[in-house]
Amino acid sequence: MAGQFNSSQLKKIGVFTSGGDAPGMNAAIRAIVRTACYYNLEVVGFIHGYQGIINKDFVPLAPRSVANIIQRGGTILKAGRCQKFLDPQIRKAAAHNLKELKVDALLCIGGDGSFKGAHIFWEEHHIPIVGLPGTIDNDIYGTDNTIGFNTAVNTALEAIDRIRDTAASHDRLFIVEVMGRDSGFIASAVGLAGGAENIFIPEEPYSIKSIIKSIKESIRKGKKSSILVTAEGQKPGRAYDLAEALRKQGGFEAKVCILGHIQRGGSPSATDRILASQFGFMGVEELRRGHCDIFVGIKNNQFVSTPLQEAINKKKDIDKKFLKLIHILSS
Ligand code: F6P
Repeated sequence: MAGQFNSSQLKKIGVFTSGGDAPGMNAAIRAIVRTACYYNLEVVGFIHGYQGIINKDFVPLAPRSVANIIQRGGTILKAGRCQKFLDPQIRKAAAHNLKELKVDALLCIGGDGSFKGAHIFWEEHHIPIVGLPGTIDNDIYGTDNTIGFNTAVNTALEAIDRIRDTAASHDRLFIVEVMGRDSGFIASAVGLAGGAENIFIPEEPYSIKSIIKSIKESIRKGKKSSILVTAEGQKPGRAYDLAEALRKQGGFEAKVCILGHIQRGGSPSATDRILASQFGFMGVEELRRGHCDIFVGIKNNQFVSTPLQEAINKKKDIDKKFLKLIHILSS
């Protein structure tokens, strides 16, 4: 269920970036500030996500304070996962701070963990919040794309293309580890676009035996080098475990490359800047309409708003057809 509040008194909006940073967050902040100012609304930016609300650490934002940031990676408001916000007493104090600062509503740019905080804040203290999906993982139910995903995929892909050059020159097997703790959206996009032989994602179980079988099969067909892509899963370094298993059980020597936080940085792609600008605009519009406890997103090329609760309770699935395509095209 989405929330509703009386927006006729809306004067001041607070914005913050929460969770892991994602390229395009600055473009979203810029869009929020400029849209809000267009409607004569005041904006403040809280620093380091929920932590900034707890500490009353904020900066006033005006159109000129967001100049020259659309192309910058990271977030000018800084990011962070705030464990303290799990404490109901801390949330109460945070709500009190917002009342004191006369902040009427919030826009939260972040992932599903940040949305959980936003939803509970609304339920407990009636702080109107609208979410903007911002995570390189693209693992938010209710939107086909999140801010930062496209850039992260392009960054990983550039690395894979380079690895392919050296893999082919030496006839080598490479395992490339991309980000994605609970989800394989980056791994599958990069796997398809980078022509990977196999991908390993948290959503799908795999057996080393069948991987060994498929590597042997590709060698038999004449393949001299291969690239396997794995999502990091629960523990970064999973690629080393895979390489070890392939060595022990299949006798293969695989080179490992972990891309890590490189994927989170860098200038946002045009796709992410456009998405972030549109989400930023929509977020302010939703608050002006008195809508809250929702997040803005894009589904089948249409902009949509979805209750935060859905993003919290439902899991976005990887399209099985996509996985099959990777398999077929790797033959
Ligand atoms: O949520 C985005 C993400 O980059 C995940 O892909 C990754 O597992 C995690 O954040 C890493 O978080 P941290 O930077 O806090 O180690």
